[in-house]
Amino acid sequence: MVKARVYKSPPGPKGHWLLGSLPEFRKDMLAFFRKVAADFGDIASYRLGPRRLILISDPALVEKMLVTDHKKYIKPYVQRLLRPIVGNGLFTSDGEFWSRQRRLVQPSFNRQHMESYAGIMALHTQRLLEGWRDGEEKDLHAEMMRLTLGTVSEAMLNVDAGSYSKQVARFIDVFVDYFERRLIGSASLPYIFPTPENLKMRRAVRGLEFILDEMISSRRKDPIGTDLLSVLMRARDESDSTGMTDRQLRDEALTVFLAGHETTTNALSWTWYLLASHPDVEEKLLSELREVLNGRSPTLADIPMLKYTEQVLLESMRLFPPIYALGRETVETVELGGYEIPPQTTVIASQWVMHYDSRYFDDPTRFNPDRFSRQSAKEIPKYAYFPFGGGPRYCVGKTFGMVEAALAVATLAPLYRFELNKDKPVYPRASVMLRPATGVHCTLRARKTRVP
Ligand code: HEM
Repeated sequence: MVKARVYKSPPGPKGHWLLGSLPEFRKDMLAFFRKVAADFGDIASYRLGPRRLILISDPALVEKMLVTDHKKYIKPYVQRLLRPIVGNGLFTSDGEFWSRQRRLVQPSFNRQHMESYAGIMALHTQRLLEGWRDGEEKDLHAEMMRLTLGTVSEAMLNVDAGSYSKQVARFIDVFVDYFERRLIGSASLPYIFPTPENLKMRRAVRGLEFILDEMISSRRKDPIGTDLLSVLMRARDESDSTGMTDRQLRDEALTVFLAGHETTTNALSWTWYLLASHPDVEEKLLSELREVLNGRSPTLADIPMLKYTEQVLLESMRLFPPIYALGRETVETVELGGYEIPPQTTVIASQWVMHYDSRYFDDPTRFNPDRFSRQSAKEIPKYAYFPFGGGPRYCVGKTFGMVEAALAVATLAPLYRFELNKDKPVYPRASVMLRPATGVHCTLRARKTRVP
């Protein structure tokens, strides 16, 4: 008789006999991750209901999972659950299919295309400014959402988000709510069952798919545009010269739309919050902007000179990583930190834990963009800091997001100071991404000493 293989789990919280650590996880996921890492070390395990998960908090283990052994993993089950909703796009697919899609999508983010996207980003930032007045109260999180939605809609689909804003906003709201419930394990039946929440999600999906299908059929007639959808439509795989089907195009457009919108929104919202509460950093930033731009609007060509602006963004994503944890599922037995991890186990690496580890970051809670100066950044071990993931599946839109955020900061910061509303404190909430729970409310203060 073949004996079942016995795996020894890394240490971890005992939890409830049936639910495991589900109650603590649901109550405060961010605090839970940190507590598990603090109490049980660089490799720990915990149970959510019947599932055992592994939390790794060591840069070498993260690199092993994302880079060296990446072929032994696929995307975790929570992400695969999204396939019926967002389709089989880059974010949710695996294996050969993913690899081909990545080859087709990657060139749409190259330098030549970035030129035209950067023009769109600048235009939408100007539009946002037109609606701002000195002394007005604004929620900067909502403002940044508007900015990135406008940019991504035009750059990706060549549409004014305004014309479809109702359906798009509805889809995003329903999607975020649905994903959150799945994540904490409270949405019960799979998507194919006609429960009220599944039906609501399906209606929202149909609304957005309808819009995308219309766009795809009109582009098929005239695919000469510079927007991502047209670029993807023309893309051909070198190995067999084939392109994407309408279904694949729709899935990729939806994926990029979702992945490219809330990530940058959150990166920017947290950056404004940190700048507003650290006048010394803000002053240093303004001094760079004065020196490089001398009062004019920034362009793509300025970005390499805006070193401190980039450091501010990187440090902001250290303290508030838009994606605060990423997971993979083992497809075979893997060795990790001296343990044998069985197939079909989810392994999590959390930026929220690792970006605050004092072994790699001095005084980790301090907002200090100088950590990312050319010299100091060399001292940060690879994979102690990974806001864009790593290995073959690192963020395909990294440059797009960084350019968009840098252009927004370099345009808006010299014109306005943001005075935080003390009655509405800013604090993080782990939703699909790490967002400011109740927004970033502030009063706009036009700067008096504008350079003409
Ligand atoms: C500050 C902004 C952004 C952050 C922090 C961010 C973060 C990430 C991370 C951590 C991953 C890897 C997830 C994993 O390994 O499981 C990822 C993947 C991805 N991101 Fe981003 N992202 C940002 C902006 C964007 C933008 C602007 C786009 C598109 C316009 C985008 C599109 C994608 C896509 C399609 C993937 C999946 C790539 C693949 O699996 O091949 N992201 N992103």
